[in-house]
Amino acid sequence: MNNLISIRDLDKAKILEIIEKADHIKSESAMKGKLMGSLFFEPSTRTRLSFEAAMKRLGGEVIGFADIETTSLKKGESLKDTIKMIENYADFIVIRHPEIGSARIASEHAQIPVINAGDGAGEHPTQTLIDLYSIKKTQGKLDGLKICLAGDLKFSRAMHSLALALSLFNSHIYFVSPNKLSMPNTILGQFEKDNYTEAESYDDIISDLDILYTNRIQEERFESKKDFQKYKDAYILKASMLKNAKNNLKVLNPLPRINEINPDVDETKFAYYFDQAAHGIPVRKAVIMEIMK
Ligand code: CP
Repeated sequence: MNNLISIRDLDKAKILEIIEKADHIKSESAMKGKLMGSLFFEPSTRTRLSFEAAMKRLGGEVIGFADIETTSLKKGESLKDTIKMIENYADFIVIRHPEIGSARIASEHAQIPVINAGDGAGEHPTQTLIDLYSIKKTQGKLDGLKICLAGDLKFSRAMHSLALALSLFNSHIYFVSPNKLSMPNTILGQFEKDNYTEAESYDDIISDLDILYTNRIQEERFESKKDFQKYKDAYILKASMLKNAKNNLKVLNPLPRINEINPDVDETKFAYYFDQAAHGIPVRKAVIMEIMK
């Protein structure tokens, strides 16, 4: 694996290999003497810090920025020129950027491996590896499940990468969103027609689900505040709505959670989103090991 830009860069066997490997990384020195370039042009808590923690726990070091105000990008330097500089300083790059396709552009200009940590409303492949790891850990399998992806399916990069990955497995996917925020057809086109259902509400299917994966309405991607206001409360999961849920149901969310999961869900046995975030360290360790092979 030279770069990880889209989850499509990994086939099913490689996805399974990485999430399996995540449980078995013992080395504390595999990245000794190596530097990760951490370029965050957009806010992040989990992705940036868990990548940094994973790299340091593997014995490596990190350089980079989380605020472009402190860089020469502020003087108008281009992404291409920035990447040409970082490749002199680091052994691989982790990049988050607001533009779709930016990580791909970075990889085309870099002589070192590039990992996409989120490109606008494009993709977020390492989040997907964490999600699949979480599903496998809680359900014991990735096939034969009923999985609902609910929320803003148009703008959520985490949903896009996860849906693309799930199209490789044999589970039934419910795509639940307001009609105007539905999953792009380019992604739905990867599924057999019988393997998915589109709906605007999850109320009637909650009791059938193994996984309910929610995500916030992506405020920063809307052109008008008025449109965001229309959808911001479209889905609010409450503990009372889970009273007929299956015992094995897990509620996932890439976080940050805004209002799409009421805090009373945190106290139920169904809440798994904080465990899911914790899995960022072992899974990103496995991704780093793979990219630096
Ligand atoms: N899940 C995720 O990408 O979180 P951050 O935006 O905090 O990195």
